[in-house]
Amino acid sequence: MKLRLYYETDPILRQKAVPVEKVTNKIRRLVEDMFETMYAAKGIGLAANQVGILQRVIILDLRKRGIKPMALINPEIVVRAGECDNEEGCLSCPGLFAKVTRAACVTVHALDTAGDEVAVEATGLHAAALQHEIDHLDGILFLDRLDPTERIRLEQLRAAHHPF
Ligand code: NI
Repeated sequence: MKLRLYYETDPILRQKAVPVEKVTNKIRRLVEDMFETMYAAKGIGLAANQVGILQRVIILDLRKRGIKPMALINPEIVVRAGECDNEEGCLSCPGLFAKVTRAACVTVHALDTAGDEVAVEATGLHAAALQHEIDHLDGILFLDRLDPTERIRLEQLRAAHHPF
């Protein structure tokens, strides 16, 4: 079932999601619905906050980069290294894209939909996407991570699109 997406100014995007206690059918159903919602919106990543659910669940589909779709429950970044810039956007902030500096490589520990522990090592866009989605679970948007120049550029863009 496609879920409603929540946008930038909605307070739910500023709240911290709570850990999932047990990976139940309800959580698996949420994951399925999140994939359906993300595909309908042509996104590559989604966090549960964005569909109004404050549980620590994220999904990614970077098939175009040769990475198979994944759902991670209670994801935690346990290693971060280096630094790199990636152009990011967000389904909760339609039409806004900006360069964000994040760790170049991360290792994430999480549970999969079977409730088993998994470790994911990621670099480049994959690493950026994981950090972006995990930020959502902590109430953080990519807009909060922009350097001052990018922020000004984005605000000007916004002003140009909404002159009144
Ligand atoms: Ni996002």
